[in-house]
Amino acid sequence: MQKSPTKVVAGNWKMHGSLEMLAEYVSVLARALSSQRSEATDRAMVVLFPPIGYLVPLSEQLRVCGLQDQIVIGAQDLHPESQGAFTGDMSGAMLRDLGARWVLIGHSERRQYHAEDDQLVARKAAAALAAELTPVICVGETAEQRDSGDAERVVERQIQAVAQALGAEGLQQCLIAYEPVWAIGTGRTATAATAQSMHAAIRAQLAGLTGETDNRIPVLYGGSVKAANAAELFAQRDIGGGLVGGASLDPQEFAAIIAAGDGALSADVTTR
Ligand code: 13P
Repeated sequence: MQKSPTKVVAGNWKMHGSLEMLAEYVSVLARALSSQRSEATDRAMVVLFPPIGYLVPLSEQLRVCGLQDQIVIGAQDLHPESQGAFTGDMSGAMLRDLGARWVLIGHSERRQYHAEDDQLVARKAAAALAAELTPVICVGETAEQRDSGDAERVVERQIQAVAQALGAEGLQQCLIAYEPVWAIGTGRTATAATAQSMHAAIRAQLAGLTGETDNRIPVLYGGSVKAANAAELFAQRDIGGGLVGGASLDPQEFAAIIAAGDGALSADVTTR
């Protein structure tokens, strides 16, 4: 386990990219980071979540471009069981074999298109820890839930299910990503104040669940994060970094978001 006080800037490529794009992407990102990071102290921790099939090519390309120590890679999902007759699925141990160290769990697109409920999300989080992967638990309310005043209750319930399965000690090895569904891929970012208010509620819940008050569990914001709004979001007290979708596909844009995380106020991050 390694512990570093830093923001986390994570890119979720979702089902985007190609081998051709990947080679170009990493070299452009390497150039952008080497010019902007030489002075940076307190660098953001950078994580990329490519489609599973690109985990190995991505880590090779990161090595070729000298970024292997600056960027961690992770998977977008895993199966809750460690092995078995589950055609098309991947276990945590398999993902680790392919170089993944982190894994997204319960992204709203998995909840929506693969009918993942809180119980399955909790089982996946437990499977990730068993495979020594760092889970990023994604939570967030829909527009309807926000409009009916249920946003905080929904997010609290989603976190509670994971807390129940993992216990305080397990929960402390996770990160939370608050991604309001209405802000994902819509260009409609939560305002910094709206995001901060939910993050403060999440922090209070985490403190109640773990007894910790020192921001040990980073809470990332996701939903239309881009270079233009990253610095303001990252300046919020309880925002520990960003989970970036669309904007992470453009290496220049992603580098600018990383720059907003470099040197920003710190949260504690525990990683494997
Ligand atoms: P966008 O940044 O494209 O809104 O996606 C956010 C997201 O879902 C990251 O996991």
